[in-house]
Amino acid sequence: MNEQSPDRTEGDINLSECRRKWQDRTLNEQTRDLLFRDEQVFLRQSLSTPCLTVLEACNGSYLQDLQGKQYLDFHGNSAHQVGYGHPKVLEAVEEEMHRLSFCPRRFTNLPAIELAEKLVDLAPGDLSKLLLCPAGTVANGIALKLARLCTGRFKTISFWDAFHGASLDAISIGGEALFRNNMGPLLPGCIQIPAPGSHAMGEEPLGWEEVLSYTEFVMKREGDVAAFIAEPLRCTTVEIPPVPFWKGMRELCDRHDALLIFDEIPICLGRTGYWFTCEHYGVVPDILCIGKGLGGGVLPLAATLVRDGLDQGAAQAIGHYTHEKSTLGCAAALAALHVIEDQQLVERSRIKGKEILSRLQEFAESQNGVVEARGLGLMIGVEMATADVAERVLYSCLEHGLSFKISGGTTLTLTPPLTISDEEIEKAISILCTSIIKTLESDYAS
Ligand SMILES: Cc1ncc(COP(=O)(O)O)c(C=O)c1O
Repeated sequence: MNEQSPDRTEGDINLSECRRKWQDRTLNEQTRDLLFRDEQVFLRQSLSTPCLTVLEACNGSYLQDLQGKQYLDFHGNSAHQVGYGHPKVLEAVEEEMHRLSFCPRRFTNLPAIELAEKLVDLAPGDLSKLLLCPAGTVANGIALKLARLCTGRFKTISFWDAFHGASLDAISIGGEALFRNNMGPLLPGCIQIPAPGSHAMGEEPLGWEEVLSYTEFVMKREGDVAAFIAEPLRCTTVEIPPVPFWKGMRELCDRHDALLIFDEIPICLGRTGYWFTCEHYGVVPDILCIGKGLGGGVLPLAATLVRDGLDQGAAQAIGHYTHEKSTLGCAAALAALHVIEDQQLVERSRIKGKEILSRLQEFAESQNGVVEARGLGLMIGVEMATADVAERVLYSCLEHGLSFKISGGTTLTLTPPLTISDEEIEKAISILCTSIIKTLESDYAS
């Protein structure tokens, strides 16, 4: 993959004409100068440098750029369940910073123990042990190592177009050309299959029964698959498999002695209207990876939760990360979990998500250029007819103070903080719908 042919699966691209025009219209000299300095020192890479603009503050549902412009943030890298700079989270981090600012490995600490106890308490089924680590990618890497250790097998099945992180092991199970191309040999035994709803076989979306049958075929033919790993709900394009699909996959994994690993890194902790998305499916995986918002939108933290019986690596180094039991990360996480509980944000996500979705679905039906709106909780996707329109809608929304990302080229991916107020919801819907209408009108006019 090169700069001339960007892959649009994971996000909107940073070298587009649309972005350049937006920057020409919007940015002042000081911002341009900083973007230039950024590009001089950071490696350029797709999805980030060169960057969109320069931020200087964030608070609640808003980001603020250097020019004082505020953006309602419906992206947040899916890390802002409790909004930005939540006072309870900041207070907890500040207190811990003055008490135990770092915990070297070999030692443990109270925030880490309390967080681990809280997470296994919240987690469904028998997910009763965990490891903490500094990134979602790493949590998935731990899951892969544990799957190998506990099954004595190394093969995995995952979805084409999936994203599970940017490291070599994560891109081996991932399926995005943007990350895999030009990387040479990846991990052996990583088998990708098309996801239900994908258009891998032509115009018609693949049915979930077909995908299950094909998975069974692969499991039988290989005979020694260690694990099936996937997001229960694709967070970028908001593809939501039906409940029987994951129930069927759970049975399939059990029949073939393979572990079921769910990557819920961007969709855990209330995002979809459940503490964990697997609860929507009534399915408990053997391993559950979470991250992003776990750090309260302040610090990096992720976790690999496993069921009883997978605690088999006592004589092996599995995690071993410098910031494994980060006191500050754990303090932030504990505070964020309490905020989610105290403010009933899981329920709020479910209720507000339903309301927003039904309004966007009604709107989608009234607009020819909008294919559909779909979602679960405050994880909502609005699919536009073309990538060009999607991109112009994004830059129009940014101009009017609403930020989100585009996935798969055509899906506007909307992930507001779960703390978002009713007024902010109204404002976001108004900016979004007006931008879509205006963009489609200018399309017809030209
Ligand atoms: C589904 C999924 N898995 C894993 C990751 C990697 O998480 P991190 O960026 O914290 O390493 C991401 C990040 O976007 C993700 O969306």
